[in-house]
Amino acid sequence: MAETAREPILEVRDLVKHFPLTRGVVFRRQVGAVKAVDGISFELFRGETLGIVGESGCGKSTVAKLLMNLEQPTSGEVLYKGEDITRLSGRALKAVRRNIQMVFQDPYTSLNPRMTVGDIIGEPFEIHPEAAPKGDRRARVRELLDVVGLNPEYINRYPHQFSGGQRQRIGIARGLALNPEIIICDEPVSALDVSVQAQVINLMERLQDEFELSYLFIAHDLSIVRHISDRVGVMYLGKMAEIGTDEEIYEHPTHPYTQALLSAVPVPDPDARERRERIILHGDVPSPANPPSGCRFRTRCWKAEQRCAEETPLLAVPEVLRDAEGPVRHPSACHFAEERTVVPT
Ligand SMILES: Nc1ncnc2c1ncn2[C@@H]1O[C@H](COP(=O)(O)OP(=O)(O)OP(=O)(O)O)[C@@H](O)[C@H]1O
Ligand code: SF4
Ligand SMILES: [Mg+2]
Repeated sequence: MAETAREPILEVRDLVKHFPLTRGVVFRRQVGAVKAVDGISFELFRGETLGIVGESGCGKSTVAKLLMNLEQPTSGEVLYKGEDITRLSGRALKAVRRNIQMVFQDPYTSLNPRMTVGDIIGEPFEIHPEAAPKGDRRARVRELLDVVGLNPEYINRYPHQFSGGQRQRIGIARGLALNPEIIICDEPVSALDVSVQAQVINLMERLQDEFELSYLFIAHDLSIVRHISDRVGVMYLGKMAEIGTDEEIYEHPTHPYTQALLSAVPVPDPDARERRERIILHGDVPSPANPPSGCRFRTRCWKAEQRCAEETPLLAVPEVLRDAEGPVRHPSACHFAEERTVVPT
């Protein structure tokens, strides 16, 4: 990302999504709520890739759906160029949707098996006919196939005639069709073989430069987003635990959860692997319907103290690091944040 491009294109403010838990068939009553996203704030800057990482169920896809306006938040705001898109409807919402597109996790189920690739990639033009006049659409789809590295002659083939990596290229081509500014990628490479993951990530990086895209890139482990992200946010049980540039997060993590996740990242160098410290997390992730009081990570944190049960740590530069200089000084939601070198360099 260019150093000068610090203009936020999306601003997420205190976003909350609680799914009601109900009981009873005739008299439905609410007995609780799944706190899938529980007060998350971050910015996505123009032209950058923000990685969002966390274990299964921590709320990543719910964040994606809220940003896409596919779910209504319980509270909070999503500002796109300063305008809260959660309150838009009709034509105004449609106009914003054109600029925020999504690439889904599973290229095997997200493409309609009965549609040709040409129809799949051209489908967004049915909803936004102004994006490409009818006579130009086939040519535009061929162009998009070429852009994502597929043979334009494949336009009449069906999804089952492609490999997983090729299918994800089709999903990306569809995401690009309307010339969006932002692409939300919900685990776009998790279902692919490791060798193919790198190819798809390289393609996405090339497209980002070519089309000046901003990416929100969701993954469940830190190694996948390392290469592509300018910044990374680490989520735990509906909250953001730590957020920073890739240097801040990978080399100077200060939140125990980030440190534990990093200690599990594969290290190619055998000497470094020998020297590294493994932090094994014990216990399961608690239910988001009944999260722990105070710090949500406290039931698995080896540093937890009484204060952690009583006071919810805010995502901010920790008090003890306020006077520090350099990359250790970044937001971390921990009362006892401190730097720890988990992966030897
Ligand atoms: N429509 C819904 N109704 C009720 N609960 C939901 C709904 N959607 C998600 N949840 C719950 O919200 C929590 C967060 O789900 P979400 O899909 O956002 O997690 P995730 O981080 O994307 O997980 P994964 O890595 O498995 O994709 C989970 O406990 C999930 O069961
Ligand atoms: S606030 Fe307490 S429980 Fe939470 S991460 Fe920090 S030390 Fe652990
Ligand atoms: Mg998900």
